[in-house]
Amino acid sequence: MNDSSPGAIFSVPYEIAVARPLRQTSRAERAAALSAAHYNTELLPQELIYIDLSTDSGVSSLSTGQLALSAPANSIEPGMGLAAEGSRAFASLAEQIQGNFGFAFFVPTTQGRSAERIWSKLHVKPGSLVAGNMLFPSTRIHIEMNGAKIVDVIGDAAHDLTSDVLFKGDIDIEKLRATIGQHGAEKLSCIYIELSVNSCGGHPVSLANLRQVNAIAAANKIPLFLDACRILENSFFIQEREAGYRNHSIGAIVQETCALADGCTLSALKDFLVPAGGLILTRDKASQQKAFMQSFLDGVQPSGSAMALLATALAEIFAADGYLKSRVGQVNYLWHRLKDGVPVLSPPAGHAVFIDVKKFVPDLAPERFPAEALAAFIYQMSGIRVTKGPPLAPSQVARGTDLLRLAVPARKYLQGHMDDVAEALLYAHAHRDQIKGLKRIDDPNRSKHDPAHFIEPF
Ligand code: F0G
Repeated sequence: MNDSSPGAIFSVPYEIAVARPLRQTSRAERAAALSAAHYNTELLPQELIYIDLSTDSGVSSLSTGQLALSAPANSIEPGMGLAAEGSRAFASLAEQIQGNFGFAFFVPTTQGRSAERIWSKLHVKPGSLVAGNMLFPSTRIHIEMNGAKIVDVIGDAAHDLTSDVLFKGDIDIEKLRATIGQHGAEKLSCIYIELSVNSCGGHPVSLANLRQVNAIAAANKIPLFLDACRILENSFFIQEREAGYRNHSIGAIVQETCALADGCTLSALKDFLVPAGGLILTRDKASQQKAFMQSFLDGVQPSGSAMALLATALAEIFAADGYLKSRVGQVNYLWHRLKDGVPVLSPPAGHAVFIDVKKFVPDLAPERFPAEALAAFIYQMSGIRVTKGPPLAPSQVARGTDLLRLAVPARKYLQGHMDDVAEALLYAHAHRDQIKGLKRIDDPNRSKHDPAHFIEPF
């Protein structure tokens, strides 16, 4: 319960229990590291990075409660056998999931992508369509691997990088209706909605929109699934931005969101503060049983310890809303520090600040890899790692959108670190004429999906 009595301020609801030293590198060391990493910040060695904003996934700090479970004596929880329901860790996870998300059945997996692979295999038919809102690459690929085509029905506001539309993750209801009208409801395997849409700036989906989609899905007997890996941040923005939700708890908003869906897949590495784990949530026992068997065959069952870590995290997160307020608040702080000096995407997201690269370095042609060149420049100046993040959606690539993502790991950095990031970005912006671009070198021994190698920086 929040105490709002005068004089009581609880901005950060935790203290640091374990500290990891960070190296302060010299500029010469960073230049050598950059050269050895072929000017691709994705390839830099971790020990030469001061602040790492390459992802918020699997890199949050553990709580003391979670750490206690990681101690050797506690790490001997057995993994999942075929009958997973019997394990102690599964039972405590089940209690958290049923209580907090309202789904009767679930299947734990090792990552979000393994949950998506299983779920798509069970629910996406070859030759069908899936309507989605700029789905994450792994979701997209698993849907396509099952022979379906994705129809992107996100609202056009998702492509406007600076407007102040509050829920740019929303589905365009007319586009959805038109897709169903044109192809027939039976042609759609499902509607898949990502909450806090990662590709276009972490923008949330409103409950009003989800309710409309739910009504259309139900009327047409099309299953509605959520990618719910950032459901907490989405719920925070519903509480903050959607009319009528200011006094609803995050837990109540999560329940209301889940009640509108037939199922969810999620990576637990983001909002749920664990280094590994994913979930399938469903109301359908037969689907759960099939998914169990598939996870057994795919070898993507999490260890008992991984399930126990997740159960503890869920219990801690849902016990109080203060954590989420400070988590989103920190990202918001960084966004506010940057917004008047650097072209950032608006409104702010809950897990990252996104930079509009075309506006940052307008004179650098796309053939000079402006995002990668800017990231290399920032590292060389400051030791801070930023990357482009996951690949953009086809509709963004078609529009020539180019972004850098400053993904803030949860519970990891202090306000001082955010100030250092802001100073580095403002410095880079003031000296952007020094950023000369990069040239890609093709190496036949590397796959086109490997992080690229570059030369000729600055
Ligand atoms: N869905 C979304 C929206 C994601 O952001 C991710 C991962 C996944 C699914 C897949 O989950 O990694 O557990 O298999 N995003 C990471 C990121 C990689 O940096 O944003 P996973």
